[in-house]
Amino acid sequence: MFVDSKTINAEPYRIKAVEPMRVTTREHRQEALESAGYNTFLLRSEDVFIDLLTDSGTSAMSDTQWAALMRGDEAYAGSRSFYALEKAVQDVYGFPYVVPTHQGRGAEHLISQILITPGQYTPGNMYFTTTRAHQELAGATFVDVINDKAHDPTAAGAFKGDVDLGKLQKLIDDVGPDKIAYVNVAVTVNLAGGQPVSMANLRAVYELCHPLGILVWSDATRCVENAYFIQQREPGYADRTVAEILREMMSYFDGCTMSGKKDNLVNIGGFLAMRDEGVLQKARSLVVLFEGMPSYGGMAGRDMEAMSVGIREMVDDAYIAHRVRQVEYLGTLLDEEGVPIVKPIGGHGVFLDARAFLPHLEQDVFPAQALAAELYLDSGVRSMERGIVSAGRDPATGDHRRPKLELVRLTVPRRVYTDRHMEVVADSVIRLYRRRSEIRGLAMVYEPETLRFFTARFAPLGA
Ligand code: F0G
Repeated sequence: MFVDSKTINAEPYRIKAVEPMRVTTREHRQEALESAGYNTFLLRSEDVFIDLLTDSGTSAMSDTQWAALMRGDEAYAGSRSFYALEKAVQDVYGFPYVVPTHQGRGAEHLISQILITPGQYTPGNMYFTTTRAHQELAGATFVDVINDKAHDPTAAGAFKGDVDLGKLQKLIDDVGPDKIAYVNVAVTVNLAGGQPVSMANLRAVYELCHPLGILVWSDATRCVENAYFIQQREPGYADRTVAEILREMMSYFDGCTMSGKKDNLVNIGGFLAMRDEGVLQKARSLVVLFEGMPSYGGMAGRDMEAMSVGIREMVDDAYIAHRVRQVEYLGTLLDEEGVPIVKPIGGHGVFLDARAFLPHLEQDVFPAQALAAELYLDSGVRSMERGIVSAGRDPATGDHRRPKLELVRLTVPRRVYTDRHMEVVADSVIRLYRRRSEIRGLAMVYEPETLRFFTARFAPLGA
């Protein structure tokens, strides 16, 4: 059979360096889990077998990226590596101006401080933890304007990340355009299960907002995965390259925040990119206070150099096709056994629907947290809760926010694991599903004030 980048079905890379992983006993994992307070964030990585906690900063760099590290220019000002990064962002994303930051939330902090006047609103297609936290810190109120299907793990839909234009219009009518700091569109939508946004929707949001003078920004963290879904699913894009699609997507935004730890294939770094020189000047003044000089933000020269290479590698069609298909492979193995997952399968991970998996557990006993703990115990696979714990408390009432989605995320790092690893993960989840009625809930015994999911501690509830 003729093999090309669209039909190839194996890892489009070969392994040049390996990192041994430790296989542990169940007794060892039981001890590790107890000392981690049943929170997978608090496990030591050396106690983990296959680490699907996150796809953030966990990518494998290419030989070219490792070589680029040596070219890093560590000059305090005017580093050559900054110009390499700037050029890559201009070429691949199409934004003229870039301010590097230590990671995505550094960029979110800057843009929230620049664009938000206290009392304004920041509509977005579902919240993300750090994004909303920075918007609230700057005095804004986040309003979810994603379409309803995104909150339903079983609803079909090619673009479940789409903004509901009716909801956005209603907010604009209710509060007035001046009260909207900016609209933030995430591509893809992490907490909806990695669901993409269609090009038609991006265009429509832009056309709705621009005549009213409302800025539209993007959380572009996983924009390449989104571009791949557009290529696969949206009429008119099948013959366009992912690179071309990405450029068109970005043309509908005034700027973006970026966590380079995902699509950009690096272990640390991020940036704020924009078209407006005024925003650039403000970002440069702020970045000096919070991160570093505008020509390095929070990054070392070598990291900017590796990121500039990663930005060009990420739009390779064969790479991104395999990346998304590997996630799909894991999801399909689970789906075939009836395990409840968010569908369609998203771009960066498979999300277990903990409500349907553990229907005997109320949301207040943290079903997704309990399921993530059980999975670790069973096989040393680390996953992440994305449900009531991640959602935190409502600042006004102090009560838990109770999101409709109560999920466990199996996030696949880029270029790190093989399809065989995906099979091992699937076997473990299927084993748990078969004895799901035995899985018990948890009580939260320590709760920090902000972003509680990172450090909260839990204890198992009695039988
Ligand atoms: N936006 C999205 C959609 C993200 O997924 C993340 C990070 C950020 C912003 C913040 O970027 O971590 O570089 O500061 N997500 C990670 C995750 C933590 O595991 O999903 P950061």
